[in-house]
Amino acid sequence: MRHDHHHHDRHGAKQPDRFDPARAAILDDPARFAYVSPDMLLTELAPAQSSTLVDFGAGTGLYAIALAQRRPDLRIVALDEQPAMLEHLRAAIGRAGVTNVEAANPAAMETWHGRADTVLALNVLHELGDAALYDVRALLTPDGVALFVDWNADVERPVGPPRDHVYGVEDAVRRLERAGFTVEVRAALPYHFTLAALRAR
Ligand SMILES: C[S@@+](CC[C@H](N)C(=O)[O-])C[C@H]1O[C@@H](n2cnc3c(N)ncnc32)[C@H](O)[C@@H]1O
Repeated sequence: MRHDHHHHDRHGAKQPDRFDPARAAILDDPARFAYVSPDMLLTELAPAQSSTLVDFGAGTGLYAIALAQRRPDLRIVALDEQPAMLEHLRAAIGRAGVTNVEAANPAAMETWHGRADTVLALNVLHELGDAALYDVRALLTPDGVALFVDWNADVERPVGPPRDHVYGVEDAVRRLERAGFTVEVRAALPYHFTLAALRAR
């Protein structure tokens, strides 16, 4: 396994290889909505009217844009650490013509500290090192909620990464608790777990 620690500290990540931008097209498969629906994400996130939602590790923006279209009142900040993904994101935002979602470079991360009413982290927990988990926590307002939805190692899946690259529910909860979150386990999806994480006090 290649451990790519040159540009970003991925210490603590279950799967330390970063997502290969050459595989971006698989993220745009609309079949994904059958097992992780944008409506379900909005129900779990329950973002207040006109609040700020950060999509952490937004990839090509399939979900950021779907959420923006369903909730034009929200301000959606789509963050990704990879310039190639940000290019995909900006192009997709332009094609969709949505004006309430912006692609943001993590270089601007601190600008957003304490300003996210909600954070969506979809299919990214297994890629996040401890520093990135700290970032997610720092983005939240004091009462903010981060929704971690990721491939579940506890279930057999015809899709998604191998089971040993992702977390089961117990390990995911423990990891988030160690990173300073209070965690609530929400309803399981066919292939994913859903965890709501608040800043522990
Ligand atoms: C498997 S993709 C999922 C993309 C998107 N959430 C989706 O479900 O379509 C994971 C994405 O997270 C990004 N990522 C990983 N670690 C990150 C970090 N620390 N900060 C920002 N983005 C990150 C990767 O560049 C990649 O685009």
